[in-house]
Amino acid sequence: MTDAIRAYHDPDRARRYHTQHAFDPPRKARMFEVMLDTLRALIPAGGRVLELGAGSGDFTKVLLDSGFFSRIEATDGAEEMLSLAQSEITAEQVSFRLLDFTRPWSAPEPLDAIVSSMALHHAPDKLFSFQQAFQALRPGGVLVIGDHIAGATPHTHRLISLERARVKQIPEAQVPDWILQDEQAQAAQGNICEPLDVYLNVLQQAGFMHVDCLWRDHWMAVVLALKPYE
Ligand SMILES: C[S@@+](CC[C@H](N)C(=O)[O-])C[C@H]1O[C@@H](n2cnc3c(N)ncnc32)[C@H](O)[C@@H]1O
Repeated sequence: MTDAIRAYHDPDRARRYHTQHAFDPPRKARMFEVMLDTLRALIPAGGRVLELGAGSGDFTKVLLDSGFFSRIEATDGAEEMLSLAQSEITAEQVSFRLLDFTRPWSAPEPLDAIVSSMALHHAPDKLFSFQQAFQALRPGGVLVIGDHIAGATPHTHRLISLERARVKQIPEAQVPDWILQDEQAQAAQGNICEPLDVYLNVLQQAGFMHVDCLWRDHWMAVVLALKPYE
């Protein structure tokens, strides 16, 4: 079990994540919109989608409510998170699976799409996790990742941290301490955030094409990658 899975497997932590608002709800909502629009633009209606690190089902509900997919498989490494999702999502086209994306996995049938929201930053070896997604997709299938990224340089990373403090309305005098605490809290959650370039390069190394960032706002980004037909 990875540190991140252990952290989210803790029932108190899982329940807190599920019941508290996201760190920044408007940004997360915009990220979801871009992810869904991208899927709708690229795969036929009625497709099969698998979600990595679905947690308590925030994006799973968006996928379900869109009415666009025939099958949605919501997966997560932490049983506690998955059971929270399962307690709220009972639609028959959604299934659930305990799946650790740091270990080998496969899908019974090639998938039209794989999605992941705010989870793959927990993967220590991003190449391995992207290669696993690549092998599970059908030719022409898409991987759409919305994730928590780092700044490209210490300077831009600092700007991102300042924006996080602004979102949380931290009084100016407390910002330096708050930023330190924020970094420590993220490390304790098993966050391994990488700059956007790393995502784009590693996805290409995994064999994907048309790798691009479709939206970015400070620490959140939506990245698209397509599996070639040949
Ligand atoms: C920040 S939460 C995001 C949950 C949800 N996707 C959302 O957008 O609200 C991160 C999720 O990633 C899961 N996770 C972390 N490491 C994982 C791994 N190695 N394999 C599968 N899931 C993992 C955690 O259990 C947690 O549910």
